[in-house]
Amino acid sequence: MSGPKDRYLGQYRILEQIGAGGMARVYRGYQAKLERNVAIKMIPTHGSDRHMILRFEQEAKLVANLAHQNILPIFDSGDENGWAYIVMEFVTGGTLRDRLATAESTRTLAPLWWVLKICEQAASALDYAHTMKVIHRDVKPANMLLRSDEHMLLSDFGIATMLAANASSHRGSVGVGTPQYMAPEQGIPNAGVDGRSDIYALGVVLYQAVTNRLPFYAETPAGIIQKQINEPLAAPTMFNPDLPPAVSSIIVRAMAKDPRARYQRASEMAADLAEAQVALKQGNRTARIATPTARVATVVPVIPPPAVAPPPGDGRSPGACFRCGTVSNQQNRYCTYCGYDLSGTRAQVDRFLGPNGRPLRCRLTFLNGVLAGRSFILHQDVTTIGRTTGNDVLILDGTVSRNHARLIFHNGQWSIEDADSSNGTQVNGQKIKRPRVLHSGDQIRIGDEFATFEVIS
Ligand SMILES: Nc1ncnc2c1ncn2[C@@H]1O[C@H](COP(=O)(O)OP(=O)(O)OP(=O)(O)O)[C@@H](O)[C@H]1O
Ligand SMILES: [Mg+2]
Repeated sequence: MSGPKDRYLGQYRILEQIGAGGMARVYRGYQAKLERNVAIKMIPTHGSDRHMILRFEQEAKLVANLAHQNILPIFDSGDENGWAYIVMEFVTGGTLRDRLATAESTRTLAPLWWVLKICEQAASALDYAHTMKVIHRDVKPANMLLRSDEHMLLSDFGIATMLAANASSHRGSVGVGTPQYMAPEQGIPNAGVDGRSDIYALGVVLYQAVTNRLPFYAETPAGIIQKQINEPLAAPTMFNPDLPPAVSSIIVRAMAKDPRARYQRASEMAADLAEAQVALKQGNRTARIATPTARVATVVPVIPPPAVAPPPGDGRSPGACFRCGTVSNQQNRYCTYCGYDLSGTRAQVDRFLGPNGRPLRCRLTFLNGVLAGRSFILHQDVTTIGRTTGNDVLILDGTVSRNHARLIFHNGQWSIEDADSSNGTQVNGQKIKRPRVLHSGDQIRIGDEFATFEVIS
């Protein structure tokens, strides 16, 4: 479908496209009467029925009535020629997502005081909206816009609900929210969603900002939601040991799986965030502050999804993987795409059973480097990791030694030992000197490669 560039939408002239999200496009527009630039979010309605468009407009009215210094003002809304549109303040300082992406790519952290301030502003905006009976449902860095003076404006209030209303008219019902930031109850059918779901999402934003990593990752949206529901949260201090305990506690409380264990009001979270800033300003010596230039030694990059889909296969060609069908070199012991044991013989050593009666195995998921996004399911025997052929897990990266490390299973537990590698092996940011017992969620670093260790059965 072609966009509406250089056309008029009501009194607004549509200029260039400035962004695009999952279901909408955002344009810079010009309102001649008031001689100002505006941002226009446009959503194709595909001829949605009148009822849906009315619902969309009702929601827009509700949101337009929100007046708070940290909520992006909505000037106008409407629908025309198959587009529903919302006209908003044009914000020029980018989004928190842009800032976090820059921090991540340079392996630095955004200044802690600044992150706390932005999140405090978001918490105060949420508290106000909640008192007005509006739940955001899609709090995330991309919806935290920054004016040129760094003042934060939370955008897209209620938009997730509107998009769901719009899409459900022609695509069946869709989920509301973004899996990486979704509270557990948003992924459970008929579980109540309320303001505490927004508090959880803001906890995820804070986690990401202070560690440069998302708390939960999986290859599919459903997998991420499952982890939000079931997987215990790895303490943020594991990835940023300099994080003041008070800030870590704010995140852990905001991200409690059970909404009753979270902050009950966003104002309580805002108060704790304000207090944490005061502690930093007062030069609280026990709280070491991550400065903008501080290198982040232990930070794991946010994981990109695998760039390519596995080639089709049925598992019948020689060397083909029974799990994903990728045809590997016949001498490989592990599938080069998904890491599955191709020989089948390793599985015979899996005698130790998990509580569900299935053999306990573990999975290494690489987060960056040559194996980014790849998972290796490993059996209950010794697994060698290194740069040269003959290793069970082969990492063709110069920072990895020929024979780098070994994973060993003994009596129900996995441990890892370094095999006198040049660059060492780390677990949760600490270099290991002797075999170290591993727990689900541990982060392993081999040379410059980061991987998550998980126990599965
Ligand atoms: N009011 C605005 N002023 C300036 N830029 C904006 C404004 N609103 C949105 N943008 C830009 O447009 C981009 C797309 O916004 P949009 O809300 O459609 O998607 P998103 O929030 O990035 O993702 P998703 O669709 O998954 O929610 C934003 O990331 C931002 O860069
Ligand atoms: Mg948005």
